[in-house]
Order: sequence, then C-alpha cells, then structure tokens
Amino acid sequence: MLTLCFCFFLFVVLLSSLQENVLSCNQIDHDSLISFHQHISNSLPLNWSSSTDCCHWEGISCTTFNNRVTHLWLPEKGLSGTIDHPFLANLSFLSHINLSHNHISGPFPVTLFHSLIHLKILDLSSNRFNGSLDSSFFNRASNLISFNVSNNSLTGPVPLSICSGSAFLEILDLSMNKFIGNINIGGCSNLKVFRAGFNSLSGWLPYDLYRLRALEEISLPNNRFSGPINDSIVLLSNLTVLELHVNELSGELPLDIGLLSNLEQLQLHTNSLNGTLPPSLMNCSKLKTLLIRNNRFGGEISNLDFSKLQLLEAVDFGNNTFVGKISNSLCLCRSLTAVRLAYNRLVGEIPPCMASLRSLAHFSVSDNYLSNVSQALNILRHCENIAVLFMSRCFNDETMPNDDDLSRLGNGFQNLQILTLGGCQLKGQIPSWIAKLRKLKVLNLSYNKIYGPIPAWLGDMPRLFVLNLTQNYLSGNLPRELGRLPALNSDNTSSDLSSLALPFLFDAQQYNRLFNLPRGLKVGYNKLSGNIPEEIGRLKLLHVLDLNNNEFNGSIPRNLSRLVNLERLDMSGNDLSGEIPESLTGLHFLSSFSVANNDLQGEIPRGGQFDTFPAASFEGNPKLCGYVIKRRCDHVVVGTQEEMVPESDEEEEPESSWYNVPFGLGYFVGLFLAVIITLLFNGSWRSVRADSTNYLETRSV
Ligand SMILES: *[C@@H]1O[C@H](CO)[C@@H](O)[C@H](O)[C@H]1NC(C)=O
Ligand SMILES: *[C@@H]1O[C@H](CO)[C@@H](O)[C@H](O)[C@H]1NC(C)=O
Ligand SMILES: *[C@@H]1O[C@H](CO)[C@@H](O)[C@H](O)[C@H]1NC(C)=O
Ligand SMILES: *[C@@H]1O[C@H](CO)[C@@H](O)[C@H](O)[C@H]1NC(C)=O
Ligand SMILES: *[C@@H]1O[C@H](CO)[C@@H](O)[C@H](O)[C@H]1NC(C)=O
Ligand SMILES: *[C@@H]1O[C@H](CO)[C@@H](O)[C@H](O)[C@H]1NC(C)=O
Ligand SMILES: *[C@@H]1O[C@H](CO)[C@@H](O)[C@H](O)[C@H]1NC(C)=O
Ligand SMILES: *[C@@H]1O[C@H](CO)[C@@H](O)[C@H](O)[C@H]1NC(C)=O
Ligand SMILES: *[C@@H]1O[C@H](CO)[C@@H](O)[C@H](O)[C@H]1NC(C)=O
Ligand SMILES: *[C@@H]1O[C@H](CO)[C@@H](O)[C@H](O)[C@H]1NC(C)=O
Ligand SMILES: *[C@@H]1O[C@H](CO)[C@@H](O)[C@H](O)[C@H]1NC(C)=O
Ligand SMILES: *[C@@H]1O[C@H](CO)[C@@H](O)[C@H](O)[C@H]1NC(C)=O
Repeated sequence: MLTLCFCFFLFVVLLSSLQENVLSCNQIDHDSLISFHQHISNSLPLNWSSSTDCCHWEGISCTTFNNRVTHLWLPEKGLSGTIDHPFLANLSFLSHINLSHNHISGPFPVTLFHSLIHLKILDLSSNRFNGSLDSSFFNRASNLISFNVSNNSLTGPVPLSICSGSAFLEILDLSMNKFIGNINIGGCSNLKVFRAGFNSLSGWLPYDLYRLRALEEISLPNNRFSGPINDSIVLLSNLTVLELHVNELSGELPLDIGLLSNLEQLQLHTNSLNGTLPPSLMNCSKLKTLLIRNNRFGGEISNLDFSKLQLLEAVDFGNNTFVGKISNSLCLCRSLTAVRLAYNRLVGEIPPCMASLRSLAHFSVSDNYLSNVSQALNILRHCENIAVLFMSRCFNDETMPNDDDLSRLGNGFQNLQILTLGGCQLKGQIPSWIAKLRKLKVLNLSYNKIYGPIPAWLGDMPRLFVLNLTQNYLSGNLPRELGRLPALNSDNTSSDLSSLALPFLFDAQQYNRLFNLPRGLKVGYNKLSGNIPEEIGRLKLLHVLDLNNNEFNGSIPRNLSRLVNLERLDMSGNDLSGEIPESLTGLHFLSSFSVANNDLQGEIPRGGQFDTFPAASFEGNPKLCGYVIKRRCDHVVVGTQEEMVPESDEEEEPESSWYNVPFGLGYFVGLFLAVIITLLFNGSWRSVRADSTNYLETRSV
C-alpha cells in the first residue's frame, strides 16, 4: 500500500515537472513580451502574469516543438502607446501578428521586424500609425502572406518594391491612409487581394496590375488615378471584385470585359469614362453589383441584354447620357433590389414586366423623359418591397394619377416610405390613394400644377415627416388637421430613413442630403388662404416650415414658438397682419426666418436668434419698425435713443412710416401716462409695448 502511494506521488511529481518543461515558454520570449506589455497600456487587462506560462497568456500561442511564441493576437484590446521599441525583435519565431482595432500610434515599427523571417500575417489595421512605410521591412519579411495596415495615418509614397522580398504576398491592404504617388506591385505574382482605396494615389493604373493573374480583388476607390483602364485587364480571369470608383479615369471600357466571367462587383462610378457599354459586359453572369453612375457613358440602353445577369442585385446607371427605352430584359434580373437610372435621357414607359421584380426596394428614374406616370405607378405597386421611389422631373405635363387610375391599389405600396413626383407639371388634385400608403415618410409633389385643397387626411398619415407641396396651385385653408401629424408631434423614431439608405448608391454628400432630410412642411408658392392654424404649433419636431408666397392672412399664431426645433420659418409673401409674436425669440435653433412682404406692424422683437436675422427678413412691411430695418419705433416704447440709428438713415426710407406722422402733444402725454400706468400695474415691458402700439394704431388709422 505504501509502495503504491509512493509510486503515485512520484508519478504526479514527474507529470507536473514534465508539463512545466513542455509548456514553459522561452525565457527570451517571456522577457520580450513583458517589456512589450510595459510599453503599451491597455484598457482591457491581459492575464499576462509573470508567474504563469507565457504560452498560456491571452493572445499568445507557441510552437509545440520548442515553445517559441508564434502568435501575438491582440485585436480590439484597447492597446495604446507606441510599439516602435526593439522588444519584439527577439520574438524570432513570431509568424502571426494581429494588433488591429487598437489605438497604437507612432511610426510603423520597422525595427521590430528585423529578424522576423517567419512573419506570415501582419494586421496592424485600424490604429493610429503615422509616418511612412520602409521598404527594408518588405525586403526582410520574405514569408509574408498577408499585410494589412488599412485605416491608419501612414503617409508618403508606397515602397517601390513591395514584392521584391515578399514574393508570397497574397493580401495587401493599404486603404484609408494618406499614401501619395503611384504604386509598384510588380513581382506580386501571388497577390489575390489588392486594396489601396481612400488614399491620394495618382497616375495611371500601374501596368504591373494587369500581369498579376492571381488577382481576385482590385479595390482602389477614392484616389486620383487617371488615364484609361487597359484592355489587358480582361486577362485577370479570377477577378471577382473591381472597384475603381471616384477616380479620374477616362476612356472606354475594354471591349472584351465579358471575359471577366467571375466578376461579381463592378464599381466604376464617378470617373470620366465614356463610350457605350460593351455588349460583352452582359456576359458577366455572376455580377451582383454594377455601379457606373457619374460618368459619360451613353448609347441606347435597350441594346443591353440583361437576361444573363440573374444574380444582379444593384444597378446604378445614374447621371450618364444613356438614351432609349428601359429594356424588358432588366425584368429578368430577379434578384434586383436597387435600380437607378436617374439623370439620363431615357424615353418611353416603365416596362410592365417590372411588376415581377419582387425584391425591388429602391427605384430611381428622376430626371429623364419618361411618359405615363399612371401606368408607371400601376406597374410598380406590384413590387411589394418597394420602399423608395424617386420619380421627380421624369414625366412631363401629365395628369396626376387619380383614384380611378389606381383603383386596384389594393395592398400596393404598403412598404413605400419615400415617394417623389416633383417637377413633373402634373395636373389634378392630391389623390386619396396616397392615404393608403401607411408607411410613407416623405412625400414630394412640389413643382407641379396640382390644384384644389390640401386634404385633411394628410394629418393622419402615421409616419409622414416631410411633406413638400412647394409651387402648385393649391387653394383653401391649410388644414388644421396637419397639426396632428404623429411623426412631427412626438414620434421621433419614424423619421429615420437610414434603413433605406443603400450607401453604395450615393456619394456621401448626396446620401446626407437625401437620408437626413429635415422634418419639414413645405407649402410655399401656392394659393392657400385663411389663417395659419394654431394647431401647426403642435408640430414640435418640425425643422422647416415654409408657408411663403401664399395668401395667408390674420396674425402669426403666437404658439409657433412651441416649434422648438424649428430651423427655418418662411412666411414671406402673404397678407399677414398684426405683430410678430415676441414669443418667437424663444426659437433657439431658428437660423432662417422671413416675414418679408406682408402687412405686419409694430416693433420687431429683439433677442435670441432675432438679433441675427437680416433686414431682408422683414422688408416689405411698411408698418414694421425696429433697429434691424433702421426704422424707429416710438421713443417711449423702444427705449434709449442710442440704440436707434441716426435720423439721416431713416430719411432714406421712402414709404415714410406711421411713426413720423406728427402727433399732438396730447398724444404723447396720453401715451406716456398709459405706459407708466401699465408699467406700474403690469410690470412688464412687453405688455406695455403691445398696448401702446395697439393704441397708436387706433389713433393713426
Ligand atoms: C488567459 O485568458 C485566456 C482567455 O482570454 C485563457 O484562455 C487563458 O487560459 C488565460 N491564461 C491564464 C494563464 O490565466
Ligand atoms: C534580445 O535577446 C538578447 C539575448 O539573447 C538580449 O541580450 C537582448 O537584450 C535582447 N533584446 C531585447 C531588446 O530584449
Ligand atoms: C485580426 O483580428 C480581427 C478582429 O478579431 C479580425 O477581424 C481580423 O480578421 C484579424 N486579422 C487577420 C489577418 O486574421
Ligand atoms: C484589413 O483590416 C480592416 C479592419 O481594420 C478590414 O476591414 C479589412 O477587411 C482588412 N483587409 C483585408 C484584405 O482583409
Ligand atoms: C477605422 O478605425 C477607427 C478607430 O481606429 C474605427 O472606429 C473604425 O471603425 C475603423 N474603420 C474601419 C472601416 O475599419
Ligand atoms: C506622428 O504622430 C505624432 C503624434 O501622435 C507626432 O508627434 C509625429 O510628428 C507624427 N509623425 C509623423 C511622421 O507625422
Ligand atoms: C484562379 O482560381 C482558380 C480556382 O480558385 C485557381 O485554381 C487558379 O490557380 C487561379 N488562377 C491563378 C492564375 O491564380
Ligand atoms: C496596356 O498595357 C500594356 C502593357 O500591359 C501596354 O503595352 C499597352 O500600351 C497598354 N495600352 C494602353 C492603351 O495603354
Ligand atoms: C472618350 O474620351 C476620350 C478622351 O478621354 C476621347 O478621345 C474619345 O473620343 C471619347 N469617346 C467617345 C465615344 O466619346
Ligand atoms: C457571350 O458569351 C458567349 C458564350 O459564352 C459567346 O458566344 C458570345 O460571343 C459572348 N458575347 C459577347 C458579346 O462577347
Ligand atoms: C454627374 O456626374 C458629374 C461627373 O462625375 C458630376 O460632376 C456631377 O455633379 C454629377 N451630377 C449629379 C446630379 O450627380
Ligand atoms: C422640396 O421643396 C424645396 C423647395 O423649398 C426643393 O428645393 C426641394 O428640393 C424639394 N424636395 C425635398 C425632398 O425636400
């Protein structure tokens, strides 16, 4: 029994010492890592305790045969500081380094890697490295396979001979830095993924590029590359991604581009490419994304046969000079979710077969010469996923599709969130089928010939937060029911259009303009009359309120001051009378304000944003007075002389205003008494002024 126990004890001791030997990490590696740790700080603590085996530390792996550290894998650990110290140079078996998504700064750590002939994978992306890349690094890293320094602040030219030392390189990602000059990737014959977008690279696309037959992805967007796309690109038969957008490329597409039979993504938008699209492009049957907007491509669009592009999801031909009719073959691309043909010279009607595009969510044909808007809506209502429909300046001088035209709307457009039909000179009334679009957030019917009333039911549209009816022939009152609009009253969430924004369809600026639309009610340039309803004051989420150039009369509702988010308020060109409510000075975000050309009177309020509005905001109201328009109000009422501008300026005012009318002494005494008395009993300057101006007005009439 004793022997057995003793044997067991021995066995345990042996085992633990064995384990210690097998797993205890190399002392040099251990010390190097400890030094490394001391020179970076990390917000997420690492369990790197000296008393434990470093091969068991977080982010560390070792070889099994000699316990040397191979992996330093610490992405997203909140590391900061610099690593340009020699501590890692002794980790001579290191092959995999991932320090991505940290906050490491300073120069690219060339010295670290002097002995790193084993290095295969280096990911330093999404840090704050600056300075330039040194070619000596690539000369030594002879086994490098993957190199990612994207999303840093590296500068200068890219080293001349990246692959002269690193011939096995397969992945090279230099994107989102500040590299300049051209780029030499000759000799990178194993390169599969090449990304260098969002830099300031220039010159023609390097000839070497066309020789690297292993390339699967070329992504060089947002640089300043110029010149043509060389015909030899068609030799890169493994290419699946070609992104050259936002550069200065010119010339035509290679005629045989169809040889790129593996191509899934072709993004060439925002260049100066021209000519017709080679028919062979339509042989790239794996294409999912085809973005060529903002170029000078042209030609008959109906010549393009889309029938082989069964996988196509997004096509953007916007802002080119394509002519002709939309091809029926487009309907065969059953996976289409986004189609943009805007800003071309297309004619004819929307092909009826488009009704079968069940995935279509975004359709834009603005700025073309299409016809038959009723037909278009009747077809597109079958696309049950359609959420965005841009059709402004597309049809001309037709009739606004009415309820009869869309009588079978049924469940159509139940996902529609944006509908624009502006600038089409459409005649007719606002049709009630719009009331059925329960998810509609943005409705733009501006610049048409729509007449009749603004229907009260618009106020019950649950999500609507942009209503643009600018420049039509609308008449009658502004319905007080609009004050109910839920998305402008309280529902902050519904005004989010971000889910609709397919970023690849837009340049940043355009994207912001379209999908951060300010919540607005725009009914300017119509024939609306009556009072501005008090209820509008409930729309406290409103940012823009345009009531200008109508026939509104009565006074400005005081409670517009409850529109606390308002940035623009335009009431110019109406028949409004009475005073500008002092309460409007409480609108702290108001940066644009106009009541020009009305019949307002009294003193222009001062304080708040009102101190920033120019005279033009108030011009054309002969009975208004105040500092900003250089027209004096009554002395007693307004306060000290010094605040007012000199007489000489005022004399230039032609329609010499009411305060110049010579009043008798009795009036002044009377007014003075009235002021003093009101002051005593009311204690408020505001009421003093209001009362005295009323008094003045009755006297002067
Ligand atoms: C350190 O943490 C990692 C996981 O993050 C764990 O796998 C490892 O066992 C830990 N090592 C020590 C010595 O505690
Ligand atoms: C690297 O290791 C050697 C011993 O092998 C040591 O003398 C030297 O100081 C180490 N360098 C660093 C930077 O840790
Ligand atoms: C580095 O780590 C990040 C985060 O885990 C990961 O997304 C990335 O793929 C890794 N890099 C490499 C080259 O594997
Ligand atoms: C490089 O790293 C970034 C993250 O920082 C990642 O988005 C990108 O896909 C990586 N590049 C490659 C080629 O894997
Ligand atoms: C770039 O890095 C920053 C911070 O380092 C990070 O927030 C951002 O997501 C990164 N961008 C990409 C595209 O990886
Ligand atoms: C890198 O950034 C640091 C500050 O983080 C700055 O002091 C240094 O001059 C920069 N180096 C270069 C080459 O831009
Ligand atoms: C192209 O891809 C195929 C399949 O992945 C591969 O066998 C072939 O070697 C690649 N061609 C080149 C030139 O790398
Ligand atoms: C295309 O590239 C080849 C080299 O690959 C070159 O000889 C030829 O001149 C280039 N063609 C044009 C039009 O630039
Ligand atoms: C395309 O542009 C080039 C200049 O970049 C010009 O020489 C050529 O004639 C243009 N082709 C067409 C079809 O307009
Ligand atoms: C498209 O491919 C087919 C066969 O794959 C070929 O016969 C045809 O000529 C190609 N069309 C064009 C325009 O290159
Ligand atoms: C059309 O493309 C040109 C050239 O890229 C650009 O300058 C222009 O702003 C674009 N127009 C629109 C409306 O996007
Ligand atoms: C709405 O109307 C304004 C005129 O005030 C016009 O400039 C604007 O482009 C229209 N469209 C949208 C979506 O606001």
